[in-house]
This record gives sequence, structure tokens and C-alpha cells, in this order.
Amino acid sequence: MADANRVYIFDTTLRDAEQTPGASLTAREKLEIAHQLARLKVDIIEAGFPVSSNEDFEAVRRIGQEVEGPIICGLARAVPKDVERAGAALQGASRPRIHTFIGTSDIQLAGQLRKDREEVLKMAVESVEQAKSYCDDVEFSPLDATRTEPNYLYEIIAATIAAGATTINIPDTVGYAVPEEFGAMIARIIAEVPNSGDAIISVHCHDDLGMAVPNTLSAIKKGARQAECTINGLGERAGNTSLEEIVMALKTRQDYFNFDTEVVTKEIVSTSRLVSRLMGIVVQPNKAIVGANAFAHSSGIHQDGVLKQRDTFEIMDPKDVGLEATEIVLTARSGRAALRHRLEVLGYELDQAKLDKVYEKFLELADKKKEVFDEDLIEIFLDNPGEGIAYYELKSLHAVSRTGDVPSATVRLSIAGGEPVEGVAQGDGPVDATYEAIHRALASHPLEDDDIQLDDYAIRAITSGSQALGEVTVHLSRSGEQARGRGVSTDVIEASARAYVDALNRLAAKNAKEQHQTV
Ligand code: KIV
Ligand code: ZN
Repeated sequence: MADANRVYIFDTTLRDAEQTPGASLTAREKLEIAHQLARLKVDIIEAGFPVSSNEDFEAVRRIGQEVEGPIICGLARAVPKDVERAGAALQGASRPRIHTFIGTSDIQLAGQLRKDREEVLKMAVESVEQAKSYCDDVEFSPLDATRTEPNYLYEIIAATIAAGATTINIPDTVGYAVPEEFGAMIARIIAEVPNSGDAIISVHCHDDLGMAVPNTLSAIKKGARQAECTINGLGERAGNTSLEEIVMALKTRQDYFNFDTEVVTKEIVSTSRLVSRLMGIVVQPNKAIVGANAFAHSSGIHQDGVLKQRDTFEIMDPKDVGLEATEIVLTARSGRAALRHRLEVLGYELDQAKLDKVYEKFLELADKKKEVFDEDLIEIFLDNPGEGIAYYELKSLHAVSRTGDVPSATVRLSIAGGEPVEGVAQGDGPVDATYEAIHRALASHPLEDDDIQLDDYAIRAITSGSQALGEVTVHLSRSGEQARGRGVSTDVIEASARAYVDALNRLAAKNAKEQHQTV
């Protein structure tokens, strides 16, 4: 890794973003995103934190074995058990990396670690040495670097490089830095650490003050060559540096930055949508690059200009990020070959079994809608609510809402494959009535309770027109455990019920996993 004009893109969506409450992914979902990140051609995928759970260990192991192209990285605190677990998870990976970290600011030392600087330096060096016994590629992060006393920071960086770290990552863990200062900090590290040239300098910024992207770009200007980012800027609290913004800033302003990445920018929008869908976090419409309005022109002057000559008001070509004009290509009369062709154009490959399954759902939808859009196809292709775990199954739903009447709903659910239970309820609206009916159905089952809380509910239309597919995302909690669920249907009440049942299934899966957890 040493190309003077190259910035390496380290994606931590599967690790830092996955820590967002309610956004946790199953191993299968992580694998699906990792395959997409490989198509996007990021350089490094941080696949998880293997010691944190058996599921995360398994996800890192499978991604390491099955995803080709990028380096696959596992996170470890600077303690032997973590590094050992990361090493084991990455055993079968062709390009493994262990990323080990420890807090280095006085606030972290006194407030969390309760250790002195000498002890922390020793732990950092020992963890790098231990990681080196599993793989050559080792990254070290002095957590909370931006609030660390500079001379101690230089000392720990020099010592970990001497111990074999090949990448030194400078995290702005709490999103405290400002761009000019952060860039200057990177320049000073490079100047003051005598062996800094033996490692790639990386940055990892959080967005608490909305400056993660500018801080990262400023660091790149001053010598950082790896940018840690996440899709849609997701991550702890206010999130991380947004991958799509960094990549498109470097591409669009090549004249200013003079750096390249290897990212296949046409994969940006599909990656963004996949992550949004699987994590259940809707992208804000005005989000740069991937928001629904990012390329929408509403003022008359702008529309007129763009129609005459695109670059009057557009600095990027929407096609470069994978936004093609939506084509109406398929109807209920289309066959499997046409469906396969269109999905392949959209970048999705499918074997015969998957094609049959997708085709069946496509016909169901095409019967309800006259026009099936690309976005509909993507939804049908990707739809896998509940990871195939159907502990709860929605058998039927009947919701009634008439002007002047109190809305009501009747829901039938089967639980663990048993005889369906039924709940009947009224509510403030048909969705409220449906959710209350689900509670009552659960409460009528001897092994269930209805102590479930709806923390969040969001609805959006995936495609345009009155027959659009509606997507509902919910976040539920039960006994301190959180899960999200998603439902898609042309009927928004049905989509709401499906999202709720999907979240119930995820809560049940988490519960079952906890009972079998051995770490
Ligand atoms: O924000 C942070 O400091 C991190 C480290 C583990 C790199 O996520
Ligand atoms: Zn972080």
C-alpha cells in the first residue's frame, strides 16, 4: 500500500455504524452488506468486533472467508482476549487485518481505564505485538486522540509503529476537532513521530459538531492516506464521516485535492439503499449525495438551466453515483428472462432458485400495480424480513377505518407454528388499532406477554404514484432489548403489521441467541 495520490477507504459501517441502537444486523445481513461493499470497491471492510458476541465473531469469520477483494478487519481492545478472538475470527481470511485500540487521553485514562500512561503504552505495544502473531497487517488507534496530550500521543504512536503497526489511526472519538486544527494535528504527528513514514496515517472522525467530513478532508490534505467512513454517515451518536461525501468530494474536487480512491462510485446509491433498508434508518431527504433531494431541482431558474445544460446547476452527474432515470420496464406479462436481465442491469445477480422466488413476488406486485419500477424490483430482490426466522407469523389482518367511526382491527398470528391466536382492538387510527390487536393476540397466548414498547415508527413511499410500495420501519423494545422491523406492501396498514411482526421475530431471535451465548 503506497501510492502517493491514493486515499484508502476504510469502511466501518459493519462495526461503528452497527453499534447504533436498534440498527444491529444479523450475520447474514452483514454478509450481504459486505458483498456490496466489495462491489463498491472499498479498500478495507471493518467487519465487526469479534469478542463482543458469538454472532459478531461468526460474521467476521464468514466475511473473511467469503468476501473477495477488500482487506477484512476485526476490531479488538488492547487486551489479550480480544486480540486472540479477532485473530481466530480472521484465520480463514485471505487479507486479514487486526485493529486494536486503547484510550490515550487523560480523561479516558482517569475516567474509564483507571490506568496511568505507562501502563496504557505497555498494553498498546503488547496488543500490537500479539496481533502481529496472527497477521502482518495491524492497525492501532489511540482512542480520543484529539484530546490526548500531544507528546504522549507521539510517544505511543512511535512505540506501536516500532512494535509493527502498519496503520496508525487517529480517532476524533468524541467529534471535538475542527478542520484546520485537525489537519495541523496530522501534519505535526507526521513531523514529530520519527518513524511515522513506516505506517499509513488514518483518520476516524465523529460528527458530533457536524464536522466529520471537513475534518477528514483537512487531514487528507495534511498527509492522512486512509479515511475511515460509513455508508450514509451512520455511526455512534451523530455518526461518522460519510463515505459517499468523502469519495465524491475527492472525485468532484480532484483539481483541489489531487487524490484518488478506487471506489466504484456508480455503486454508491445502491449501497446506501441497502444499508438504510437493512439497518432500518431512513436517509434524510437533503443528505448530500444519497438523499432523495440531492439531485432534485425545484426552482424554475434552476430547472430551466439544468434542462438547457446540466452543469449550470449540477456539479456532479447523478449517473456517477448510480442514479439512472427510473425506467418502467416490466409488467405482469413480462417473463423470467426480462426480470433477470433488468436485475442484472441494476447490479443484482441471481441463481435459478432466487429468480423463481423473486419472479413469484414480482407477479404478485405486478398484479396490484400497473407499472413496476426499478426501485420496486430492488425491494423484491432484497426483501428478507426477519432473516427467515418466523417465530411469529401474520396469518391475517382486517382493518377498518371509516370517517366518523372508531378504527378497528382484527389480527391473527401464529406463534412458534402453533394454532393462530386472535386479537381484536380499536385505536386512534387503523395502525394504532392493528398494533393494539397484535398486543391482544400476544396476551391471549399462555407463553407470551404483551410488554412491548413501540419506540419509533416511520413510513415512506418507495416508488411514486398512488400505487407506490409503502415501507414501514419500526423500533420495538421488550425487557431492555431493542430491535427494528420492516414491512413493505402496497397497503400501508399491512406494511405496518408486517414491520411489527418482523421486529417481534428479531426480538425473539436475539432472546434465543442470548440464551445460547457462551462468550
Ligand atoms: O471512535 C473511535 O474512537 C473508534 C475507535 C475504535 C477507532 O471507533
Ligand atoms: Zn468511532
